[in-house]
Amino acid sequence: SVYQATASAPVNIACIKYWGKRDTKLILPTNSSLSVTLHQDHLRSTTTSRADPSFESDRLWLNGKEEDIKAGGRMATCIAEMKRLRKEEVEDKQPNEPKLSSYHVHIASFNNFPTAAGLASSASGFAALVSSLAQLYKLPVSPSTLSLIARQGSGSACRSLYGGFVAWEQGTRADGLDSLAVEVAPQSHWPEMHALICVVSDDKKGTSSTSGMQRTVETSTLLQHRIAHVVPKRMAAISAAIKARDFDAFAQITMADSNQFHAVALDTEPPIFYMNDVSRAIIALIVEYNRVSVEKGHGRKAAYTYDAGPNAVIYTLKENVKEIIELIVRYFPQAVGSFKDVFGLFGGVDV
Ligand code: DP6
Repeated sequence: SVYQATASAPVNIACIKYWGKRDTKLILPTNSSLSVTLHQDHLRSTTTSRADPSFESDRLWLNGKEEDIKAGGRMATCIAEMKRLRKEEVEDKQPNEPKLSSYHVHIASFNNFPTAAGLASSASGFAALVSSLAQLYKLPVSPSTLSLIARQGSGSACRSLYGGFVAWEQGTRADGLDSLAVEVAPQSHWPEMHALICVVSDDKKGTSSTSGMQRTVETSTLLQHRIAHVVPKRMAAISAAIKARDFDAFAQITMADSNQFHAVALDTEPPIFYMNDVSRAIIALIVEYNRVSVEKGHGRKAAYTYDAGPNAVIYTLKENVKEIIELIVRYFPQAVGSFKDVFGLFGGVDV
């Protein structure tokens, strides 16, 4: 018989940013984070895994091209952890189940978005890998348990095991067993929430998240302030805003946290710049858009956020999507132009 399973996982975009590790091997963060999972067909990784007694080694194909599985690396760790769960949760308890944990696996993964667009593919990639192996191995475990393993592939991947609004609780244990993803609210709680992705540049980013955040941990004093005094309050406040569907508060906190993340990048030695002139001009546009809305007594209507690159993600409610796309088309034809050619601006992305 053939042992094979396919699963897909979406991209997530953080409102409270993960930046810094207290354990680089287990990928344990220096602060909790919170994200929105993008439920859009165009931003997913899909992974098929197969186990067979005739396979001579574990092998991996990304977008059709075979990649090395480095011994002791993140991919090898995730596969080994999934095999361990299969043994402990299934084979040890039900001796009649096939011993799939002793077979090698072949894994093929596809992103349906161009990696050149500079959007993080590791989050959806590791989440899809773990989900497909969980199906293959028929693991009776929760998404939070799977998030413990996806986390060891890429920190932000642990949040893609849930849809909707998701927190990654930093945890305090040295073994990382309490550093996992939890659902704050499902997508259905706030279905009007949308995300617009504006690809400002498809350049390969200068400093990777992994090496950039490590340098920040080693050199930034502002990061220490952020960890101790800022993020805990913001995690509580944004969770409350989400539960109350208070967009004004959600937007204020999201933009403040994006700003502080880029401030700690700048506070790193040598400094790291992720945003460019177009990124900053989009910030100015959203600030002005919100100023007019607040003046009319409506509160903020949009929130920008930027990860380790220049591309903007704009959260807004469905009723404003058309207006914001029109604004961006008017002021940033270059961003829209790259959409037509490459990727660009996703309008009406359901989150
Ligand atoms: C700025 O999860 O890519 O997007 O754990 O080293 O793989 P590693 O880093 P990664 O970092 C993501 C950083 C971020 C913020 C976020 O997604 O929370």
